[in-house]
Amino acid sequence: MPPTLTFGRPDDFHVHFRQGEVAGHFARDAQDAGFARVLVMPNTLPPIDSAPALTEYRRQIEAAAPGLRALMTFKIRPGLDRQTLADLRSAGAVAGKLYPEGVTTHSEDGVRRLEDAWPVFAAMEDLDLVLCLHGEHPDAFSLDREAAFLGGLSSLRAAFPRLRMVLEHVSTAAGVDAVLSSGPLTAATLTAHHLLFTLDDMVGGKLDPHLFCKPLLKRPEDRTRLVEAALSGNPQFFFGSDSAPHSREHKEAALCSAGCYTMPVSLGLLLELFESRGALDRLEAFVSRFGAQFYGLEPNPGTLTFEKLPWKVPSLVHGVVPLKAGTTLSWSLKSLQGA
Ligand code: NCD
Ligand code: ZN
Repeated sequence: MPPTLTFGRPDDFHVHFRQGEVAGHFARDAQDAGFARVLVMPNTLPPIDSAPALTEYRRQIEAAAPGLRALMTFKIRPGLDRQTLADLRSAGAVAGKLYPEGVTTHSEDGVRRLEDAWPVFAAMEDLDLVLCLHGEHPDAFSLDREAAFLGGLSSLRAAFPRLRMVLEHVSTAAGVDAVLSSGPLTAATLTAHHLLFTLDDMVGGKLDPHLFCKPLLKRPEDRTRLVEAALSGNPQFFFGSDSAPHSREHKEAALCSAGCYTMPVSLGLLLELFESRGALDRLEAFVSRFGAQFYGLEPNPGTLTFEKLPWKVPSLVHGVVPLKAGTTLSWSLKSLQGA
């Protein structure tokens, strides 16, 4: 019998499902991957920035994937007033997402200067909505954008001491340090791809567009710190895949879009990583407990079991090339119980 590993049903605290018919397919992939809950990003076209839009988007996701609970977010705009924010909260929003202008996919309408959205952050603090940060400064050199944002993180913490904040897809050692020094109301999500790869995997040999994402993959010493944070058992660090599908035509092209489709492989890759560090016993907290705790949610009922049997990653999923396409991972999903 191959070895197995069973752990509580996991959550993914950062996913992109896009809009239209494909949203249902991507939501279904999240359910099939074994996730119980997902935090759904709002950078759709058009964006999720009102209670009716949020309600309709959740309905669409849950109709396609009835076993998945969609935790909803909205896109922050400087003009969002208190009533709109209160309506979003009543409609079930758990977080608002800040996209600085132009830093990533569909952020052309993002926030130019953090101060422009100060009244929104104040209202979010009062309403106990989590502030999710795409933590990159648009004017800095591409590899330095996260580091250049971190001063903004400490200003936010000083101005809004009760606001829960998440530095999404942290990618640098400096980002890890900033989260640690910001205290327990600040957390960070970690992706599988930033834990496994560096910039060299994308551009050190032949160009691999399927590893092109924002924030960019960084240096080996950054990756080392991210892995330490993931394995540390500190509840400020939890899993968010940033699974971000773009069609094969948009990735294998000039002006390639940023984003890695990791949904089908993220748990398998994390199993390999934690196993290689002798830390399989710490995986459950990272994927199934710390994020829920930060968001004030109960752990999910039910468990997921993986077994150590080779699993071949498909080469194409709904027209999208997933991360690690065509390669073989060492764990496969065996079963889902009690959900
Ligand atoms: C994401 C996307 O495609 O929506 N892209 C990415 O490179 N990570 C947006 C984001 O989270 O930055
Ligand atoms: Zn994202």
